[in-house]
Amino acid sequence: MTQILDMIVGGQWGDEGKGKIAAEAAWRAQQLNDGKRTVVVRYQGGCNAGHTLYILIEGKLHKIVTHAAPMGIALNTDLGIGPDVAFDPVALVNEMGEHPDYSGRIMISERTGVLFGYHKLLDGWRETQRAGKIGTTGRGIGPFYVDAAMRSTHIPFAVYVSDAFPKKLEEVLQQKRMELEAAGVDVRELFRETMEEHEAVRERLASFCERLEYRLREYHENGDHIIIEGAQGAMLDRNMGTIPDVTSSQLLAPHAFATLGLRREDFTIYMVEKVYPTRVGNGPMPTYDAEFNAAVQPNAGEVGASTGRDRRCGYPDWLIVQRSAFLHDADAIIITRADNVQGLDLKAGVGYWIGGQLNDGMGGELIDEVPLDLGAVTGVFYKPDHFGWRLWEGPQDLSHPEAVDAELRDKRAAKVQGGFDALPDGLRTYLWRHDEFVGKPTMAVSIGPALNETVWRVDR
Ligand code: IMP
Ligand code: MG
Repeated sequence: MTQILDMIVGGQWGDEGKGKIAAEAAWRAQQLNDGKRTVVVRYQGGCNAGHTLYILIEGKLHKIVTHAAPMGIALNTDLGIGPDVAFDPVALVNEMGEHPDYSGRIMISERTGVLFGYHKLLDGWRETQRAGKIGTTGRGIGPFYVDAAMRSTHIPFAVYVSDAFPKKLEEVLQQKRMELEAAGVDVRELFRETMEEHEAVRERLASFCERLEYRLREYHENGDHIIIEGAQGAMLDRNMGTIPDVTSSQLLAPHAFATLGLRREDFTIYMVEKVYPTRVGNGPMPTYDAEFNAAVQPNAGEVGASTGRDRRCGYPDWLIVQRSAFLHDADAIIITRADNVQGLDLKAGVGYWIGGQLNDGMGGELIDEVPLDLGAVTGVFYKPDHFGWRLWEGPQDLSHPEAVDAELRDKRAAKVQGGFDALPDGLRTYLWRHDEFVGKPTMAVSIGPALNETVWRVDR
């Protein structure tokens, strides 16, 4: 009996393609057709995440973007929302749409905190008050986690769906009054609006309130399939990322197990790595290169799914990937967007210069660890024999995620069929050196945006 217990997390600054990979894990579980359930669980973050998936339904390719719901929603799996998620109930209800029947199939932890409109409002307002901008997605994530840490201004889901909600909301708004008024909000009016906006939503979601840690243990013991879906990437972690330009959640894989009632040793942790890192929002990215960015960003459609902002693209940075992999305790790596670097020469960063570069007379230092302040990096050391690596020959016929016509799909299907050994030599050599440096095996390479356009190294 195969029980699929997979975890999918991000190794860079988010947008690595976790949504697609999580959907593939769920799809694979469903194909087993073994009468077991499949549940996809989110454990942190909120609607700052935008997970995109292309899925072929009756010959037509559909694009699905989720923010609040785990990607499993696209495949009709059971869904779980963990206690450390910044949960936006209005967004979830919108993503559920007119779906016929979710009863018994969505589990929201009774402990999960609810994110309200005023969190988003304060997110925008606080950003205007800051000297150094973070470039948040404006989805209320920072103010939400402040309330979680404040405790008395945090509203757990169980309270939200109960009769105690109006009184609790009133108390919370009273406590937040000074800041809300500074941001120009009429607190009385806000109370009225919030109650009104949430009335139907509370009713729709009330039956999904669960003691999630016990339910997930039951799934596990029953041999059901569990996919844990991460959001953002290790470099955006509140503690271990490029602080202060990070998100407010703890997104490293080990944190998930502390809140879901599941055990790390039961799971395979896949860290998703986009061939080239991207960043949306502020903060340093040492391997950013204007020329490389110009060659990749428009063709690859590197635009934020949550915000519509352009993502900055850089050369591969193996120092970051290596560190993210051990912080996540990843078992293996899945490389995505390999189709977006056709015809381009890559180089991989393996060291950073701090305070001047080689031979510039400034006495710079070369380091091979990721420092607290990536902004202090003055240059990247690209290992000479890693220079000019062409993974695929051009032209970029597989480049744009929207370029998904039938001919391209057939090409990709042939590549998936051909398997790992039939991938171009340049790509395989790259992976060989990559895995040696990073210290984890690359188990799969995604070569297109649609479900299952992924080449696996081993038959799982
Ligand atoms: P926040 O999470 O909205 O507070 O945004 C903080 C930083 O994290 C900003 O630079 C965002 O662009 C970035 N960020 C947050 N979520 C994501 C994501 O899912 N993908 C990429 N960047 C993200
Ligand atoms: Mg995204």
